[in-house]
Amino acid sequence: MPVITSIDDLKRLYKSRAPKMFYDYCESGSWTEQTFRENTSDFDQIRLRQRVAVDMSNRTLATQMVGQDVAMPVALAPVGLTGMQHADGEIHAARAAEKFGVPFTLSTMSICSIEDVAENTTKPFWFQLYTMKDEDYVRRLVERAKAANCSALVITLDLQILGQRHKDLKNGLSAPPKLTPAVIADLATRWRWGLGMLQTERRGFRNIVGHVKEISDPASLMAWTAENFDLTLDWAKIAKLKEMWGGKVILKGILDAEDAKMALKVGADAIVVSNHGGRQLDGALSSIRVLPEILDAVGDQVEVHLDSGIRSGQDVLKAVAMGAKSTFIGRAYVYGLGAMGEAGVTRALEVIRKELDVSMALCGKRDINDVDRDILLVPEDFAGRWQR
Ligand SMILES: Cc1cc2nc3c(=O)[nH]c(=O)nc-3n(C[C@H](O)[C@H](O)[C@H](O)COP(=O)(O)O)c2cc1C
Repeated sequence: MPVITSIDDLKRLYKSRAPKMFYDYCESGSWTEQTFRENTSDFDQIRLRQRVAVDMSNRTLATQMVGQDVAMPVALAPVGLTGMQHADGEIHAARAAEKFGVPFTLSTMSICSIEDVAENTTKPFWFQLYTMKDEDYVRRLVERAKAANCSALVITLDLQILGQRHKDLKNGLSAPPKLTPAVIADLATRWRWGLGMLQTERRGFRNIVGHVKEISDPASLMAWTAENFDLTLDWAKIAKLKEMWGGKVILKGILDAEDAKMALKVGADAIVVSNHGGRQLDGALSSIRVLPEILDAVGDQVEVHLDSGIRSGQDVLKAVAMGAKSTFIGRAYVYGLGAMGEAGVTRALEVIRKELDVSMALCGKRDINDVDRDILLVPEDFAGRWQR
């Protein structure tokens, strides 16, 4: 195994092993990618306060997310097409997460189905729901997640309509890839990926294909989203979904204090402050920048998690110190998966754990649950002065 010391190492290996179409799908933001870039550059603006001569023995990163014990405040975010980054990718990621002791969230737009993941893991995972026009299909999907013993439903609110990512259109993104001359030339250099794909039958959207009647192009994420996602989703429908599920509900994609208050009203168990990794509204603020305002509005009444832009344990530490209960990572684990399957996801989690643990110690803290704003140096104008 190559010596991997950072998430960036995994990203480089991933780039050399995954087909260009799927690397680009992961490593894109919408339109100008301003929000995508600022998700990471805003983390860089926050600094950590070094403290010395503080007992740093017996440290712990263990905490809870929606009442569940987690080894560190990091969950694997729902990521569509994960099974195209590596054969059976969702199963690999879910196994790595369960062994590590952090939650895995399966996307509606996954390649491996809810049942595939349930059959190949031993602990409950979380299921992420996109809301569709076909209410019967949504009901069946929720029932399938219940039958698979999923322990939380993550409802994503920021993607009823797709933010344009130029590269996906230019690459003709589809699952499985359509074999154009450019794709064939690219795949010829990705033999490891190709061998894996030949050995699995999981190559399409298995939560969808076979579960719905009419699909114009079952391989196209763009076509499916445009035709089937429910543009009329509102808070009343979210409340109904919560009732239908009957268990823990996490509302993902909150970026505004007013929406956070609405999430509270419908009884969310947690919210994820997220701009979908900069893939939806280009020009929106980064998650870490809006976190304080949202915490001020609802922080004492609902669990607030954060994603978008986390690439290191230091980023996790900053988010938690800013007041997030926990974080989700998307790309950081996909890099690991595309690089080395389950072992790569494990490596990504190990890298983040080490960075988080050592940085926490160097800030003079021993328990992640005691980390607060006191360890941070935040630029005075970090929140920005915006006129509404
Ligand atoms: C390739 C890719 C696919 C994604 N697919 C989904 C999805 O199917 N459902 C969802 O709720 N979020 C999806 N997301 C958003 C992630 O859940 C998460 O919000 C985002 O990745 C966080 O940003 P980060 O990648 O900078 O960590 C996707 C993100 C990426 C990078």
